[in-house]
Amino acid sequence: MTETTVRALGATAGPSRIVLGVCGGIAAYKSAILARLLISAGHDVRIVPTDSALQMVGRTTFSALSSHPVHTSVFDDPEGVEHVRIGDEADLLIVAPATANTVAKLAHGIADNLLTATALVATCPILVVPAMHTQMWLNPATQANVQTLRDRGVFVLDPAEGRLTGSDSGIGRLPEPEQIAQTALGMLCEQDLAGTRFVISAGGTREPIDPVRFLGNRSTGRFGIALALNAAQRGARVDLVACNIDRALLPNHPRIAVHPVGSAEQLQEAMNSCASGASVLIMTAAVADFRPAHSGESKFKKDGSGAAPDITLVENPDILKGLASDRSHGALVVGFAAETGDEHGSVLDYGKKKAKVKGADLLIVNRVGETVGFGDVDTAITILDRDGNVLGEGEGTKSQMAGTVLDAISLSLGSLD
Ligand code: CTP
Repeated sequence: MTETTVRALGATAGPSRIVLGVCGGIAAYKSAILARLLISAGHDVRIVPTDSALQMVGRTTFSALSSHPVHTSVFDDPEGVEHVRIGDEADLLIVAPATANTVAKLAHGIADNLLTATALVATCPILVVPAMHTQMWLNPATQANVQTLRDRGVFVLDPAEGRLTGSDSGIGRLPEPEQIAQTALGMLCEQDLAGTRFVISAGGTREPIDPVRFLGNRSTGRFGIALALNAAQRGARVDLVACNIDRALLPNHPRIAVHPVGSAEQLQEAMNSCASGASVLIMTAAVADFRPAHSGESKFKKDGSGAAPDITLVENPDILKGLASDRSHGALVVGFAAETGDEHGSVLDYGKKKAKVKGADLLIVNRVGETVGFGDVDTAITILDRDGNVLGEGEGTKSQMAGTVLDAISLSLGSLD
């Protein structure tokens, strides 16, 4: 995510007062970038480090970045009763990086510095982003403290995997500032999807030919991921059924559960098992229409004669059609139509035909090809109802279009009430 995307997200949320708590981990330097992103998004950011954090990053850096004085103790400004004022006024409290020590203090209501005292006063949403050594993160004491915070409604982002202090690497790394900013700003969004559960498929299926080869497609899963993130930020719980998505692209959001699958049959099984009780089922996945009838248990070999192997294909189930025809789940069903158009019809002509064939409540049509539709590029969409009537259209980044699709879904959910 770029700084521009963060700014766009912040702009929709309006200016807010954000308190950014910083603890004394090696990742404290990243909090300066995080503060920058939040300020660029138009928010007023007050930085409250611990004394240990100031061992890592200087007070001057934090005060110059935030244009606010930087204190660590409730005794730094006793007449201002700072912890009460800052905690009371905050629209969002972020603690990033949060050390194991501060996570423990937050879980147990210990208030022995300005940050932890402010956290006890704050009634706003709280985002805690732990970063620590792998053993400290996996220690049952830390895990229990994190669970206590989550049970209390605090958002705790899972740490990332990668390089830690010194030569060590593993789970415990602070997620990138852009990701933290995106989650944080999402928490300031209107929660119009609170109380709903979305099941979203994303990515492209792989149909095995043998243990090392498959029939696949070029889908990266970016649109489905954008939908999942936007829906979670607007308050929905999301089951993301991820078909062969690059791990680096998968979202890290406390309201998103990721279910990795490979083939179309595995995808169908996962969608069906998540469907019951869901509010919305969305099929963005690019599903292979056919799969090899038999996949070899060992690798196919050339026999030297120049003859190519015969691979017989059989049709895969149409998962969207199945979800749209068996309504026992009671959810709104949304499909996607990836179209190129040809000499027999335009992208929209094919989209309208597909809307009628699939029977989904909404069908989102987008143009795909060698250079459009797949990957990190802008996209143009048209939203159709099940009869092929145009309900809306838009053009922009995948994140912006995800917002447009969710607006249409939110309207449809409202009309079902
Ligand atoms: N889809 C599905 N199961 C399939 C094929 C597609 O659930 N076996 C879903 C996709 O996830 C998407 C919608 O159907 O939501 C349309 O997919 P698309 O690939 O555009 O169309 P197809 O049905 O595969 O038809 P065609 O390839 O002939 O255009």
